[in-house]
Amino acid sequence: MKFYIKTFGCQMNEHDSEIIAGVLESTGYQPCDELDEADIIVVNTCCIRESAENKIWGYIGNLKNAKYKKPGVIIAVLGCMMQQQNIGDMLNRMGKHLDIVLGTYQQHRLPEYISRVLGGERRIVDISEDNRDFPDVLPSDRGDGPIHTAQINIIYGCNNFCSYCIVPYVRGRERSRDFNAIIDEIRQVAGQGIKEIMLLGQNVNSYGKDLAKAGVENAPDFAAVLEAANAVEGIERIRYMSSHPRDFSPALVDTISRLSKVCSYYHLPLQSGCDKTLKAMNRGYDRARYAEIIRQIRTTTPDAAITTDLIVGFPGETEEDFRECLDFIAECRFDAAYTFLYSPRSGTVAATMPGQVPLAVKKERLQRLTNLQNQISLEKNLAYVGRKVKVLVEGESKNNPDCYTGRTDSNKIVIFHGEPQMINQIVELEITAAKTWHLEAF
Ligand code: SAH
Ligand code: SF4
Ligand code: F3S
Repeated sequence: MKFYIKTFGCQMNEHDSEIIAGVLESTGYQPCDELDEADIIVVNTCCIRESAENKIWGYIGNLKNAKYKKPGVIIAVLGCMMQQQNIGDMLNRMGKHLDIVLGTYQQHRLPEYISRVLGGERRIVDISEDNRDFPDVLPSDRGDGPIHTAQINIIYGCNNFCSYCIVPYVRGRERSRDFNAIIDEIRQVAGQGIKEIMLLGQNVNSYGKDLAKAGVENAPDFAAVLEAANAVEGIERIRYMSSHPRDFSPALVDTISRLSKVCSYYHLPLQSGCDKTLKAMNRGYDRARYAEIIRQIRTTTPDAAITTDLIVGFPGETEEDFRECLDFIAECRFDAAYTFLYSPRSGTVAATMPGQVPLAVKKERLQRLTNLQNQISLEKNLAYVGRKVKVLVEGESKNNPDCYTGRTDSNKIVIFHGEPQMINQIVELEITAAKTWHLEAF
């Protein structure tokens, strides 16, 4: 039997899908690239914003056609969206054709549930939050062909409860993965010739806090994971995502700048540049503290790139508050920003706050923010022109068929004329042109 996986959402979901593929393959199922060929269709879902959810319900609705064409096909829907409190009602309205629904705690059990459906059971839903037997080591299928980056989980869940965010509700409390299991997996991917790793967690800086609380002696922290990863032979670049500015201590910046393989790239989600909004968001830092972290990074590693996430139109955000954000963003001079319209998520504190901002106002603010940031991004990128950079070659460019694409240590995308044998190698290139979202070396 063949399976097809469609993934929505963040890098953690992408990697969960690699694990689900690995688990299905080790049970004897074969992956396939076309939905029409599949006997098992798996959808891995995200509910971070309403726009994501609408898109996914559309995709799930369309799967009725697949069921109609091939009545025996098994449809399994997993992931964050399925772990939401109100999911029962939604499934009754839109999910009658689904065979298996699993929440984020149970998705590694998919093979067991497929067997039950093959045995005649219908519409199995398991969204229980019990994962006491969640294994520390699961096989991953990282895809075909040369792989440049291996994603590796280090911590699951989130304890932060930012007031707008659904993640703590659908991913549960922080659970650090066993230190040795992480380092073994890094050694294993290094043994496969993979040069770059991406350490994953909703808040990697929290690594180990739960272990220490549980009484583990000399519990390792995030810096210890970085140190150990840095010592693994064959690994040349270490990235991580995401990190919370509140937990970004001066000691951690020092560790990162000292470890040669840890990339000079900081993704530090700011969310808002207005202190009143930051407080209402429950972010645990203010502008002054954030500016201090940036100053420290730029002093220790002047070449580092810094990117961020920003939300516009949080409840209560006035025009004046928003201008404060723009001013602070101009001050920070980020290399890039991922910008979002605030989307109320049912069950979160912010969803019921007074002063919800009308959509038209949010859109207008997003436009102003994008205009400002695009100009800064371009200026930042132009500073690379004429410089030689080391690029880890990822593969052929999807947009420019004759070109190759790769990334600098600072996570800038570089487009250039290359050769197939360059893939997964680190090459030196001279930057000849810069655009808002990428560099060119022609
Ligand atoms: N753990 C990560 C965030 C994961 S979600 C972190 O803290 O960095 C990725 C981004 O989505 C967040 O940084 C935030 O900018 C955005 N986001 C989260 N909830 C949102 C919501 N309700 N509306 C709009 N954007 C949201
Ligand atoms: Fe969401 Fe905040 Fe946790 Fe990130 S740190 S996942 S934004 S609650
Ligand atoms: Fe979405 Fe879940 Fe990631 S809600 S952003 S897939 S943790």
